[in-house]
Amino acid sequence: MNGSRVIVKVPASTANLGPGFDVLGMALSLFAWIEMSAAKETSITMHGDQMKGVPADKTNLIYKVAQMVFEEAGVSVPELAISMYSDIPLTRGLGSSASAIVGALVAANALIGSPLSDDRLFQLATKLEGHPDNVGASLFGGIVVSSWDGERADHVRIEPHPSLETLVAVPSFQLSTEKARHALPKTVDLKDAVFNIGRSSLLVAALGAGKLDLISKAMRDRLHQPYRAALIPGMTTILEQAVEHGALGAALSGAGPTLISFVDSGSSRKQELERFLKDTLGQEGIEAETLWLKPYPHGAQWERIAEEDLTPLMSRIGREATV
Ligand code: HSE
Repeated sequence: MNGSRVIVKVPASTANLGPGFDVLGMALSLFAWIEMSAAKETSITMHGDQMKGVPADKTNLIYKVAQMVFEEAGVSVPELAISMYSDIPLTRGLGSSASAIVGALVAANALIGSPLSDDRLFQLATKLEGHPDNVGASLFGGIVVSSWDGERADHVRIEPHPSLETLVAVPSFQLSTEKARHALPKTVDLKDAVFNIGRSSLLVAALGAGKLDLISKAMRDRLHQPYRAALIPGMTTILEQAVEHGALGAALSGAGPTLISFVDSGSSRKQELERFLKDTLGQEGIEAETLWLKPYPHGAQWERIAEEDLTPLMSRIGREATV
């Protein structure tokens, strides 16, 4: 392993897709990269605006997760050189923490010869994140349906329909998952639970069968979005009216505050939808960046870097060095 270096590219993800609270996830074409090697002394370099304020010592999440992998595999690699760059906005509902966890697990496992299976990595990631939806999507890619009983997570991956595209509106404010989960009730009405089982099942079946016309009905939710609406002004209007402005359906992305619209890539109404999202949030005094993203079919992918190849991470991924 001496001299060995690996680089991992991990996709962002959207969770829930409306009704599939803590169950459904989809990988998106927005990425984080982690480079990792054994070192004489630990060094952690976080590149880019998204990484501001992330600790660069052994309390760093990537370092800690890597050490969990080594412990699980029964090997010792106490000192690591880690570089990370991410285009995934932090704490906005696009799975930034899940991508960091998955990237660290995959990089550390690859570094020591991949003794842990993908399933084992999925179990570790789910336990760390507390739910399987984002980590499943970042690890396996595509659309991932997963169920966790607190002990084990099982999953099935669905290939995204080739015409499916998404428009995300990322508000400039952050919203922690903890705060957004705190807004949820402890118990729900049986009628609402049945409503969500129906919608979520319909959505999975529609996505699997490529029935994009069913998405608008299937993305409805009564378990979490109504309770979170107060935290994201403009959200209710967007969820209720996005379809009238050209979307196939719309949802809160994960715990928010990002809002995601599903769109047929051949639609002629993309500009109208983008304008509607920006205007609706703007009327609430919320600035938002809009991004067109494709469902990403691949999960975390890694590559071993030749010992003599000293290309810095930022040049390797075609970004300008900011550190
Ligand atoms: N399923 C999670 C939630 C995703 O909605 O709280 C956020 O990480």
